[in-house]
Amino acid sequence: MENSFHGRTIATLSATGQRKFQVGFEPMVEGFTFVPFNDMDALEGAVSERTCAVLLEPIQSEGGVFVADKAYMTKLREMTKARDILLMLDEVQTGMGRTGKLFGYEHYGIEPDVMSLAKALGSGFPVGAIVAKDRVMDAFEPGTHAATFGGNPLASAAVAATINAILDEGIVAKCADIGAYLGKGLAALKQKFPFIIDVRGMGLLLGIEFSMDVGPIVQDFLAEGVILYASKGNVVRLLPPLIIGKEEVDIFLEIAHKIFERQNAR
Ligand SMILES: Cc1ncc(COP(=O)(O)O)c(C=O)c1O
Repeated sequence: MENSFHGRTIATLSATGQRKFQVGFEPMVEGFTFVPFNDMDALEGAVSERTCAVLLEPIQSEGGVFVADKAYMTKLREMTKARDILLMLDEVQTGMGRTGKLFGYEHYGIEPDVMSLAKALGSGFPVGAIVAKDRVMDAFEPGTHAATFGGNPLASAAVAATINAILDEGIVAKCADIGAYLGKGLAALKQKFPFIIDVRGMGLLLGIEFSMDVGPIVQDFLAEGVILYASKGNVVRLLPPLIIGKEEVDIFLEIAHKIFERQNAR
């Protein structure tokens, strides 16, 4: 997709629909075609009998927090099934409970053929995974593909412990709850401060779009001990820890209110 982000290894960088990340790392892997996100007509126009897969993020996070529409995902799944094209979801940011479901695709009532996971997968231990349906996994047999550190016991133990903790401690429901609470707080700030154009996202993956450059705002928050991340355009991304509580959200909202009042007076 245009505006996507899939990582820094050469094939995922090639699949990334933002030129700025590719500069200096050429040549890219060939064979990727980019279409606008959430545009089914563009996608229909781009696929052919040579298309093997469609790859997308349920929420384009790095790209500015754009959520895939439900109708788009439904049609995309129908089309890829009908044409025997794999649907691959990059759930590196949206997976492991962050959006209020264990995986982002669950919001859409569909299932992908392949998904990638990382980030929260190992609770900070560096690990990633590709999860796929049997039909896809059958294309691999032992020895087809490998990596020096692939499947190492420590990483696997971190993943198992993380999955158990997420499930046993009700983290997914908490993400949905706290995400809704944070979203409500942000909506109230949007009502009050006209330079906030939009608040969007799902669960604990939220973006705030401003009418001005967000660089100084990110610095203001940093000075107050809050780390925000500037996404593409005038958007800041909020990706708090999955275990954040209401008390911490209240502290954040109080700080945000103070900084936005100051911004209003500028
Ligand atoms: C959506 C998404 N996919 C994949 C990745 C993995 O990137 P990397 O290869 O840099 O670890 C990231 C990292 O930020 C990401 O946000």
